[in-house]
Amino acid sequence: MNDDYSKIKTRANVLRRILNQANHEYYTLDDPKLLDSEYDQLFRELISVEQKHPELLIDDSPTQRVGSKILDFFPSVSHSSPMLSLNNAIEASDVNQFDRRIKDLLQLGTAEVTYFAEPKFDGLAIALQYVDGVLVQAATRGDGTTGERVTENIRTVRSIPLVLRGVAPNVVEVRGEVVMMKRDFADLNRRQTKAGEKLFANPRNAAAGSLRQLDSKITATRKLSFFAYSLEGPTKPNGAVQSQLEISNLLKEYGFATSNLSDLVKGVKGIQHFFEHVAILRPNLDYEIDGIVYKVNGLEDQQKLGYVARAPKYAIAYKFPPEEEITKLLDIEVQVGRTGAITPVARLKPVRVGGVVVTNATLHNQDEIVRKQIKIGDYVVVRRAGDVIPEVVRPIIDKREGVKEFTMPTLCPECSGEIVKEPEESVYRCTAGMKCCAQRAQSIWHFCSRKAMNIDGIGERLIDQLVESELVKSFADLYRLEPERLSTLDRMGKKSAENICREISKSRKTSLSRFIYSLGIRNVGEQTAKELARYFETYEGLIAATEEDLMEIPDIGPIVARSIKQYFDDPDARGVIESLFEMGISWRQENTVIKNKTLIEKKFVLTGTLKDFSRDEAKREVESRGGTVTSAVSKNVNYVVIGEKPGSKLKKATDLGVKIIDEFMFKRLIENDDE
Ligand code: IVH
Repeated sequence: MNDDYSKIKTRANVLRRILNQANHEYYTLDDPKLLDSEYDQLFRELISVEQKHPELLIDDSPTQRVGSKILDFFPSVSHSSPMLSLNNAIEASDVNQFDRRIKDLLQLGTAEVTYFAEPKFDGLAIALQYVDGVLVQAATRGDGTTGERVTENIRTVRSIPLVLRGVAPNVVEVRGEVVMMKRDFADLNRRQTKAGEKLFANPRNAAAGSLRQLDSKITATRKLSFFAYSLEGPTKPNGAVQSQLEISNLLKEYGFATSNLSDLVKGVKGIQHFFEHVAILRPNLDYEIDGIVYKVNGLEDQQKLGYVARAPKYAIAYKFPPEEEITKLLDIEVQVGRTGAITPVARLKPVRVGGVVVTNATLHNQDEIVRKQIKIGDYVVVRRAGDVIPEVVRPIIDKREGVKEFTMPTLCPECSGEIVKEPEESVYRCTAGMKCCAQRAQSIWHFCSRKAMNIDGIGERLIDQLVESELVKSFADLYRLEPERLSTLDRMGKKSAENICREISKSRKTSLSRFIYSLGIRNVGEQTAKELARYFETYEGLIAATEEDLMEIPDIGPIVARSIKQYFDDPDARGVIESLFEMGISWRQENTVIKNKTLIEKKFVLTGTLKDFSRDEAKREVESRGGTVTSAVSKNVNYVVIGEKPGSKLKKATDLGVKIIDEFMFKRLIENDDE
């Protein structure tokens, strides 16, 4: 009996260890080793042991991460040492001053200071107390001296170890930031929308709201994360830690997630460089950061520098310019895009956001205005993150006064063409096509752009002038421009006019994929254009393709196929293309060397995936023997080669009685010829 009980006890220990390790691998290292199903099975086993033997249930059991009892309030706790704040640096001169002062105080002379640099996480500061390696208390920062005890909620955060890994001193206090990852924030707001609940404004608010739940079972559903950045009190059982870098490494050893961007930098130059480097990475990080924290790396130096008021002299938070500001929405106007799509644009009272003055911001579309309940005259939150186009995030309803509803115009503001909303689309469009000067200008701009015909030196202003003066009514007109006429335009010298004409002329030699892309066919981006060029190889092949043929290309679905077909069926579009050819647009055809003529005049159609050939390879095999590969099955086709998952061509071939061969027979056909 006793023997059995000790076995059960050991098993409970083993299960806890395995599950804690699995949590660490999954949530902290982002490198799971256990399958979800394996984890679930072991988890259920531990629950069942703990239910049968409640005395074996301990606080640091992974089963306790799902939330426990509901609290009436959060008890207050005093911090072992105050949770300080940081002085901010807003401009480069603040950083210079900070560095100067440290150099003076440490009497470094000309030597540079080494700083430990890491992101300033935009979340909530938390202090975690571990006694004998076990998490016993978690507290919020509060006023820095007294915080609230949120241990039950913190236990649900998977990246916080319930038991420290490795050897730790008897008492350890780890401090860091609880955040919500951007994707978990997006998921949460999606669920809130579905449930008709209020949305959180940003990940920080969502993290704060989740941590302040008296019912930890709710917190457990919220997916919070934690990054550790400091260690208080005695740090190592034997031997002292000497630098901030060592602290960071020790935190990792204990099982915490730390920033993988942290680094040592030297002097003001190092600070500035690191700041700019992380600013570039910032939009793509999984979590929000609002600056960089720089700490003098040596702990002894930190001690020497000491504190002023409630902030250490050895550290500074260099803040990114704020990405969100509040300003007044003066009006909503609409812009016409290349495909006629009408985009509502907010005209704003100028405001500095992220270091740039913003006067316009996109509102995306009409549905978005309705969903966000934005009205003309509202005070609105404007956001500009990195290189992203500024957008209106939400109105400040409390400040609302005498506002006006936005209504979508029925006529295009540029050409007075009719605006219609396409069924099942949220987009309104001007229906005038190339007759609309805005669409014309945008199309020409796209045609000239780098990934299209790559005509250097043609800017938006020039295009507007060319369109307004009716010098350029279609793509082909660009190639008819002459320097003499061009130099009569506003702010256009003779030399630049000549340069531009030369650039335009140079663009005549292009490639099929660039040409397709530059036409601006709806739903055909750069990648699709490349695939079309690869698949059809010739312009003639492309325009002869049916929607079914087009859908043979991976990634081309019915919508894209229809846009392409519609485009090439339009006589106006075909006219534009013909005149481009007349202007001398051309590209090099990839010529296949003909090895022998055993397949001369034989027409092939390929459908489905072949095992031993890519489509290009199969095509080359045929062409190198004088045969041709076409896309459409007709009576003139000699062979339809079918691979795995053949398309509708198989049926068509059967209907027309065209010879159908599989890959094996295809190989025989070409190998035979080789002999
Ligand atoms: S170190 C002496 N490092 O910023 C203070 N703080 O403005 C030690 N914060 O309350 C703080 N990321 O919550 C430090 N990598 C980081 C941080 C960080 C965010 C927060 C922290 C603190 C606030 C100070």
